[in-house]
Amino acid sequence: MFIETHGCQMNVHDSEKALSLLRPMGFAETDDPSTADLILLNTCSVREKASEKVFHRVRALRLLTEQRDPVVGVLGCVAQSEAEQIFERAPSVRLVVGPQALDGLPDLVSQLDRGFDRAIDLRQDNRPDFVAVDDRSRRAGLVAFVTIIEGCNKNCSYCIVPYTRGRERSRPIDSVVEEVRRLGEAGYREVHLLGQNVNSYASWVERASGRRFEENAFPELLARVARESGVSRIKYTTSHPRDFSEKIVQVMDDNPELCDWIHLPVQSGSNRTLKRMFRGYTRERYLELVGAIRGARRDYSLTSDVIVGFPGESDDDFEETLDLVREVEFDALYTFNYSPRPHTPAADWGDDVPPQVKRERFDQLLELQGEIQIRRAGRYLGVVCEVLVDGRSARSDTDLTGHSTGNAVVNFPAADGVVPGAVVAVRITSVKAHSLYGEFVKLLSSPVVNS
Ligand code: SAH
Ligand code: SF4
Ligand code: F3S
Repeated sequence: MFIETHGCQMNVHDSEKALSLLRPMGFAETDDPSTADLILLNTCSVREKASEKVFHRVRALRLLTEQRDPVVGVLGCVAQSEAEQIFERAPSVRLVVGPQALDGLPDLVSQLDRGFDRAIDLRQDNRPDFVAVDDRSRRAGLVAFVTIIEGCNKNCSYCIVPYTRGRERSRPIDSVVEEVRRLGEAGYREVHLLGQNVNSYASWVERASGRRFEENAFPELLARVARESGVSRIKYTTSHPRDFSEKIVQVMDDNPELCDWIHLPVQSGSNRTLKRMFRGYTRERYLELVGAIRGARRDYSLTSDVIVGFPGESDDDFEETLDLVREVEFDALYTFNYSPRPHTPAADWGDDVPPQVKRERFDQLLELQGEIQIRRAGRYLGVVCEVLVDGRSARSDTDLTGHSTGNAVVNFPAADGVVPGAVVAVRITSVKAHSLYGEFVKLLSSPVVNS
């Protein structure tokens, strides 16, 4: 089988889950689609371009595999949002499975095997169970993903994710801690806790007064994973400014196992726009949270997302976004042109910012952030970073590449005994907008090899 993944880390992890589900049925993974008898596309519908890509990819993959007539399936967010229409638009697709129905994949594939023409499962019944992933199916090398919460209840007015991923379901705290501990034992050096909005993680927790259900159990989860799992590099995405709190910063300060990186999407710097996005916080509250992060004991790398050209966004609104970006100085910023999505309230408000204006705003932000980013990166000059080695650098035969605890790409000259999976100390000697360069200082630990 061949599986291609688009979209966010949740999707990357869902592809790992799909592999784990299909392996016991005798499927083995191949990276050559022309030899596969099952082709799965795990899709993203967050912007129109991503969503449309699915249909191009189905056509391209069909051309490659004309002789063999494999089963072609669409998983993920486009499966949920486009549903049966996929069969009409792409008649070669025989299988459609929504993100919350992933556990039904083996049954559906068997049905197709038994001669059914098509199979579709879009259940959204919010079962609290999470599909387990076997280690052979994990793709992120020495970084392992762990889902802590699925779905999203925030209903931002532009966003299709609550429609495709359904209501929030948190996984019990003990089961998360146990999975991270086991991953550490299996040799993973870094673990990413995943959710569309990790800060609204809820669970039963033990308190002095007894066991009780807490709506805001994320700080507790972080502290327990840091103290009990034995994994020394723990990251999490994505945070939401409405549920992010000073308490989380405090727990991070207290536990060095929690890496020095916070992704806190702001989306806009204008209160008027934030309100119409249904974000549930103001510019002032966002800046207050940034103040807590900047005032913390440790130096955190802070990254964010911004949407430009949201319906009704005026020049003044956009100026306020530029102004916020200038004030905060993010370490990285992901900018997106607003794209109207089906099943969202904003889709009915008209996409009234002309494409040319969106492009200009996009470019302006890119330029501003470019300057800021290189200046911010300058604070790492002379600093020794802890780097997890990913492999050889694509740009140079003599360099290795890895990533820091602050989630920056770090390149450095290869050194004896340093292999992928090693954790090394690198002193930063020069900075670029999107990567740091440094000299090897010492090997901190070699990869753990389990038989
Ligand atoms: N749950 C996360 C990520 C959601 S999707 C969060 O709340 O931040 C990732 C990013 O895509 C969002 O942060 C947003 O900036 C962008 N995005 C979502 N919907 C969009 C749309 N309709 N048009 C353009 N960008 C969008
Ligand atoms: Fe979408 Fe908002 Fe939920 Fe993020 S918090 S997934 S932007 S609805
Ligand atoms: Fe895309 Fe779905 Fe993730 S829409 S960003 S794949 S949650």
